[in-house]
Amino acid sequence: MSDAIEAARPLIAAQALCKTYITASGASLLAVDRVGLSIGDGELVTIVGPSGCGKSTLLRMIAGLDEYSEGVLKLDGTPITGPSRDVGVVFQSANLLPWMSVRDNVALPLRVGGKHTAETGRVDRLLEMTGLGEFGGRYPYELSGGMQQRAGICRALARDPRILLMDEPFGALDALTRERMNLELQRIWQQSGKTIVLITHSISEAIFLGDRVIVMSARPGRVLRDIAVPIPRPRSLDTIIAHPAYGEIAREIRGLLNAEGTVD
Ligand SMILES: Nc1ncnc2c1ncn2[C@@H]1O[C@H](COP(=O)(O)OP(=O)(O)OP(=O)(O)O)[C@@H](O)[C@H]1O
Ligand SMILES: [Mg+2]
Repeated sequence: MSDAIEAARPLIAAQALCKTYITASGASLLAVDRVGLSIGDGELVTIVGPSGCGKSTLLRMIAGLDEYSEGVLKLDGTPITGPSRDVGVVFQSANLLPWMSVRDNVALPLRVGGKHTAETGRVDRLLEMTGLGEFGGRYPYELSGGMQQRAGICRALARDPRILLMDEPFGALDALTRERMNLELQRIWQQSGKTIVLITHSISEAIFLGDRVIVMSARPGRVLRDIAVPIPRPRSLDTIIAHPAYGEIAREIRGLLNAEGTVD
């Protein structure tokens, strides 16, 4: 009995989670409204929603980088009160340190964790995997926006975190690189068993990557629908659109976002 309860315990759980910002003029702004979420160990969950609906706010709260105003938010059964070593974050913009080389930026979390020398090979493998193999010695200003974003992804993966939170990680990439990164992320996830939460504005990316797609309302962000994606893995970009569930789910998401006044 207790085993069953343990197995059922979500890795990330939110109940009636709210976030109110106080703006510069002193007004209250409700960004996230009574969000309930339950994400199991090893799941890959994607989140879509209109711009400004509170997606990044939700992710920052899970990352322990933003306080929540009301409700419950737990990581592995413990209330989140700050950043955790188990969690890696890929931000909406890469935020690389301009005075450090790409390789040093990627290795920074390892250096902070005291593992620098032992894991240099890992950093080079990550750079290679994301097509940055030749750019380790360059500085961020020498890279395109998409390349900087890929370095940000390497940095989040460097410490091999159990949970990866990704805020529109592929938004700045060209279409072909984005497809390659989608496949690469699916592979990393399948091989590593990581739990991944990924925000995207692309309905096709949300369905391709997600075990579930969570659709949020316009601000204040609520969960409108939590849609399971019953398409077998590994998925391929060519065949997924032929799967009958793909079109149905895409139509459902588009309908929900249209009703909110936006299709991203
Ligand atoms: N630090 C802050 N202070 C005040 N308001 C904020 C702050 N950060 C975000 N907001 C507001 O909270 C709301 C949600 O912002 P958030 O960045 O979470 O949206 P989002 O869904 O990630 O949008 P996008 O898709 O454009 O990235 C917005 O109205 C935004 O203006
Ligand atoms: Mg955002």
